Amino acid sequence: MSTDLNWWKGGVIYQIYPRSFMDANGDGIGDLAGIAQKLDYVASLGVDAIWLSPIFTSPMKDFGYDISDYRDIDPMFGSLEDFKALIDKAHSLNLKVMVDQVISHSSDVHPWFEESRQDKTNDKADWYVWADPKPDGSPPNNWLSIFGGSAWKWDSRRLQYYLHNFLESQPDFNFHNPVVRKAHLDNMRFWLDLGVDGFRLDTVNFYFHSQGLEDNPPVPPGEPKTKGAPEDNPYTYQRHVYDLSRPENLDFLKELRALMDEYPGTTTVGEIGDDFPLKRMAEYTSGGDKLHMAYTFDFLNKPHSPAYIREVLANMNEIVGDGWPCWALSNHDVERSRSRWGKGEDPRAYPLVAMALILSLRGSVCLYQGEELGLPEAEVPFERIQDPYGIPLWPVFKGRDGCRTPMVWDKSPLGGFSTVEPWLPVSAAQLPLSVAEQEADPEALLHKVRRLMAWRQNQPTLVNGALTLIDVANDDLVAFEREYQGQRVLVVLNMTGDHHTAEVSVAVSEPLTGHGFTASISGSTVSLPPYQAFYGVLG
Ligand code: NOJ
Ligand code: CA
Repeated sequence: MSTDLNWWKGGVIYQIYPRSFMDANGDGIGDLAGIAQKLDYVASLGVDAIWLSPIFTSPMKDFGYDISDYRDIDPMFGSLEDFKALIDKAHSLNLKVMVDQVISHSSDVHPWFEESRQDKTNDKADWYVWADPKPDGSPPNNWLSIFGGSAWKWDSRRLQYYLHNFLESQPDFNFHNPVVRKAHLDNMRFWLDLGVDGFRLDTVNFYFHSQGLEDNPPVPPGEPKTKGAPEDNPYTYQRHVYDLSRPENLDFLKELRALMDEYPGTTTVGEIGDDFPLKRMAEYTSGGDKLHMAYTFDFLNKPHSPAYIREVLANMNEIVGDGWPCWALSNHDVERSRSRWGKGEDPRAYPLVAMALILSLRGSVCLYQGEELGLPEAEVPFERIQDPYGIPLWPVFKGRDGCRTPMVWDKSPLGGFSTVEPWLPVSAAQLPLSVAEQEADPEALLHKVRRLMAWRQNQPTLVNGALTLIDVANDDLVAFEREYQGQRVLVVLNMTGDHHTAEVSVAVSEPLTGHGFTASISGSTVSLPPYQAFYGVLG
C-alpha cells in the first residue's frame, strides 16, 4: 500500500454507490461482495482511493443517508467481516478506502432519536434539535427542508417540533451538545480502528444551527442563491444565515482533525452546499487544522461555458487560498455530467476533455462510477422512481435516480449487474457503453481515461502546482498555467465542438505528450481541434 501520507493531495477518489455497483448475491441490490469482485477493475483505472456511499445499518428512506446504527453494516450490503475483507483487498491493490459519515442527522429509527422523542426529560432529550411551537401552533421559524416543506416536524409525544434539513425521517442532531459531538467522534474512531483511510463528510456545514432560531431572510434580488439545491426548489429563495454554516462548526472540525491526526495518512473530504460555498471551503480547508479537502456544487450545477469555468477558477484562487478543493463533475446527487455539461456535445469526445479539466486543476478529484465510461443520465420512468426527493418536485426536477441506475458491466439486458431485475432499471441506452464493450474496443473512452490518469500521475506540476489563469486571446477556451518547484506548465482546453487557436505570450519549450490529446503548437499559436487539450512546458 502507498506509504505517502499525503496521497490524498491531488489524489483521485473513485466514488462507488454500493446499491448500484455490483450485486453478488442476486437480490437486485449491489453489495460489498460485489464491490470486492470488481475491485481489480477499479484499481485498473489508476485511482488512489474508493469512497463508498453509506453502507451502514439504515431503513434506507434516503438510501443509507439515514443511519440507524453508526457501527454496523446493513445486512443488505453484507457484514462487518465482509467490510474488513474489502478493506484488506483494497489495500492489497494499493487502494485507500473512504466511507461516508452522515452525522448531521440520523434516521428517526435510530435508538438515540427514539429515546429523545419520548419526553423532554430523558437522557437524550437534547441530542436532537427540539423547539416549542409558536403560540398559534405553527413551526418555530421559516426554515425549510431541502427535500420540500418546513424543516420542522411536529411530534405528538413531546408536543414539540424537531428539525430536519432533509426528510422528516432524518432528524438533525444538536451539535451544541458536547456529548453528541463526542458520540460521533467515538463512532468515527471505530472505523479508523477498523482500517478505513478517510471519510467523506455528508453536509459538513449543516452540523450546527443558531440556537436563537431566527427566521432566515430572503435572498435579496440579484444576489446569488444557495448552491446545493436546484433553482426551482424554494429552499434557494432563503439566505441561509441561521440554519447552517454556523461559526461554532470550525471548533468541531478542529476536534475532528485532531482525531484524524492520530491516524496518519487518513483524510477527510467535506460536502459543502452553501450560499457562499468557496468562502466556506476556505474556512474549512485552510490552515491544516480542520478538513483536508472539501467539494462544492460549482461544477455539479447546470451552467457551463468557458466563461463560467474561468469565473469559478478565478474565485477559487481569490477566495480559497491555501485551502484544498476536491473537484467533481458528477456524483450520486446530480444529473450525470455527460448529459448536463455535455448536453449537445459529441458524447464520444466531450467526456475526456471534461475529465482533463478537473485532472489539470489544483486539487484532488472525485470520479463517480461510470464517468470513466462516459455514461449518460438514465431515463427512469415515474413508476420506477425511488428517490423521495424526486417525487414531490417531479417532473421539473426528476430526483436523483437517473445517476443511480446500476453500473453496466456488459451489454446483456441486466448489464451484468444482477441476475434479477434490480432496484432501479438498467439503462438500455447505457448498455453499448458497458465495461466489456469498451475493454474490447481500443478506441473506447475507458482506455483513454486510463491513459490520461496514468500520465497525470507522473506530472507533479499538475498534481501540486499553483494555478494562474491566462489570456490566450480566445474566450471560447479555458487556459491556465500551473507552477511547481520551478516548472511551469501551460494547459489549454477546448471543450467545444469547434476548432480553435490560442495565442501564448510565453514560449513553450516542450509540448508534453503521452496524455492522448492531439492539439499542437506552431510558434506561439496552439491549434486545438474539437474537444482537445494542450499541455506544454513554459519558458
Ligand atoms: C447529501 C447526500 O449526498 C445526499 O445523497 C443526501 O440525500 C443528503 N446529503 C442528506 O444526507
Ligand atoms: Ca445484493
